[in-house]
Amino acid sequence: MSEAARTFLQTNNAPTREPAPDSDLGFLWDFWYPVARSHQIVGRHLATAMLLEVPLVLGRTAAGKAFALGDSCPHRGIPLSYGHFDGQVLQCSYHGWRFDACSGRCVEIPSLTSHDKLKVDRIFAGHYPCEERDGYVWVYMNELGSRLAENVPPAPHLPLFSHKYKITHLACDLPAHVDHGIIGLMDPAHGPFVHQSWFWRSRKSIHEKQKRFEPIPCGFRMSPHSPSSNSAPYQLLKKITGDVVTTTIDFVLPNMRLEEIHSGKLWFSSRATVTPVRRDLCRIDFVAAWNFGLLPVWIFRLFGKTFLRQDQQTMVRQAEGLKHNPNLMLIDDADRPAKWYFGLKANLLESRHTGQPMRHPLEGPVTLHWRS
Ligand code: FES
Ligand SMILES: [Fe+2]
Repeated sequence: MSEAARTFLQTNNAPTREPAPDSDLGFLWDFWYPVARSHQIVGRHLATAMLLEVPLVLGRTAAGKAFALGDSCPHRGIPLSYGHFDGQVLQCSYHGWRFDACSGRCVEIPSLTSHDKLKVDRIFAGHYPCEERDGYVWVYMNELGSRLAENVPPAPHLPLFSHKYKITHLACDLPAHVDHGIIGLMDPAHGPFVHQSWFWRSRKSIHEKQKRFEPIPCGFRMSPHSPSSNSAPYQLLKKITGDVVTTTIDFVLPNMRLEEIHSGKLWFSSRATVTPVRRDLCRIDFVAAWNFGLLPVWIFRLFGKTFLRQDQQTMVRQAEGLKHNPNLMLIDDADRPAKWYFGLKANLLESRHTGQPMRHPLEGPVTLHWRS
């Protein structure tokens, strides 16, 4: 049977649903992912984006609510982003079917006559829960194509510790599968080689470290500790407050590294997420907030961009090597967090599959040793 005929028959029986996305790409579904910065979604303009290889059309209603629909008309598949949006309803450019932007529900099929029995409101464009936090539009990537989204947890937010603070955002594309992006993010051993900068540290400052880790739900925590003595900004903070500096770093599925630094009343909070776009492309979104006036946003951005560029350049080079499918290694202890990440991912999928509680790859606190 031809594809067109099959589509015709399905449509005749019941409104079709978007086919389940390919789940073998190592993506984690049923999580929130940042898709765009809030300021990129303005007016009646329709933006396009991709998450987990799902093309999306993004917009904002006249009431200011951001929305995300699958960028494919359920009738013949033309991207809905070619359509017209009036602030509430998105009209497909091909046959003019009209969809409520927030629910994806079809509200009108212009070609229907009084002889037609088709229940228009049972037809949906794929739609995904959408929220805004910390200057990002977040989309909940529900594997079942979103209409069945139940128990959607609240979207993530950056922890803040006072009313007044500075905040800044940085982003960077990485030409790699999300797993490589994430294990790069949690990898302590590349610091002295990739991130040598006069303002941060030199390769010579490499020394043995030990860090304590503990399990947290869906992730692990580098227990509160005094940060690396070889990093200049931490030294500076200690000089300013005269207080101890403590930092806590969490990794939480699906893709999130959260860091909090406190010294007296001063605090710094940051989050990096690595979001899968396609199987060979991911994006780091980095947001940081702090309450010490001495650190202007522009200086922070300058340093932050240097950091991200160093990681990006490394991954561009790594991608050259990965094209040839080499065998890879994870070693103890420096790559142990990467092993935990793969463990968490596998155990989460297993628990979703069996309905049993998720096993945690860390049985309890553990101390790791490495040189960096
Ligand atoms: S393809 Fe969208 S209305 Fe026909
Ligand atoms: Fe890095």
